[in-house]
Amino acid sequence: MIQRLDQLTGPVEIGKYYLVPTVRGEWDYRVRDWPVIGPSHNDSHCLDFHDVHYHFDARFMPGPEDDEWFWRRAFASPLMINDKGKKNEGLPAPVWKRRRCRRLANPFFVSMQELAAKHQTWNCHFKYWEGKQARRDDRGWVCPHRNVSLADQAPDSSGVIFCPLHLLCIDAETGKVLPAIKAVPSFAKATEDQPA
Ligand code: FES
Repeated sequence: MIQRLDQLTGPVEIGKYYLVPTVRGEWDYRVRDWPVIGPSHNDSHCLDFHDVHYHFDARFMPGPEDDEWFWRRAFASPLMINDKGKKNEGLPAPVWKRRRCRRLANPFFVSMQELAAKHQTWNCHFKYWEGKQARRDDRGWVCPHRNVSLADQAPDSSGVIFCPLHLLCIDAETGKVLPAIKAVPSFAKATEDQPA
């Protein structure tokens, strides 16, 4: 039976289908049911980002694997516009839809983390959380920043889980938040063509 992401107690697998939260809105000039992760929120208090948005779940997004600009936008320009073309006028609640897992993370996660670390607001965010302890629920680690479950996120080859929302790095063994830049992720290039 197809599993909902919020039932998983371990990482997703490339090529498998899951029920994924999706939100209908406009992005990249297209209205679609986009796969999202975490609640709608703004980041006024920490990252000076005031628009209410959802983050995309890049694992389930269609997109050209090698187009760095596409994936940078998928991270830095989250879903903020509703299906009427309006920003900050309400995005609907997520609806669970069947989607195929195409990759384990945004393919350009590394360069985005490096870029983010050059900005003062992001550095403050990384420093504030560094060394803090993530809580563990009955599925796995929960990101301490927005209480988003990381249970279905695959650790990289050095055992670090990267929160796709605001790039915190969490030790998969201990749940401690690691220094951001020292923990630059080392995912193998992960596409659905690669054996899981
Ligand atoms: S929810 Fe913000 S870094 Fe995880």
